[in-house]
Amino acid sequence: MEDFVFYNDLKDFDSNDYQLIKRAQEATQLAYAPYSNFFVGAALLLLDGSIVAGANQENVSYPLCMCAERVALYNLSIQHPAKQIHKMAVVARKEEEFVPATCCGACRQVMLEFEKRQKCSYEIIMLGADKKWIKCRSASVLIPFQFEF
Ligand code: THU
Repeated sequence: MEDFVFYNDLKDFDSNDYQLIKRAQEATQLAYAPYSNFFVGAALLLLDGSIVAGANQENVSYPLCMCAERVALYNLSIQHPAKQIHKMAVVARKEEEFVPATCCGACRQVMLEFEKRQKCSYEIIMLGADKKWIKCRSASVLIPFQFEF
């Protein structure tokens, strides 16, 4: 697969991807976001077909807010420590409308760590600023010149 593939419409995805995006959309209902009113959902499709979700969790002390992607990934770590991620979908909602949101830099670094842990890349699906869906081959293409030691 190329590093990035773009889709104009949700209906252009195959059913696996479409189902995963739907699960991420559902997960936005579990966001706790009374400060930003920006509800983010993430869903991880594992190699065995199961799905693990996450949603952003905010705090009155703003820097303590946790993004949906990291909630999903850390949820996976303790729920299914031996299972491998195949794909990730991330979506955001304002009121009743799904809006563009690409993963923040901190999440990209954490997403990369999970590729390192499982010794295998996974695809990431999100909605770009121009309302085009983006499918990335790997977290590593989202964070060039990575920190390593
Ligand atoms: N947020 C995410 O959940 N994921 C991201 O990649 C960026 C931002 C959340 C954090 C905060 O609760 C809200 O969106 C507004 O920044």
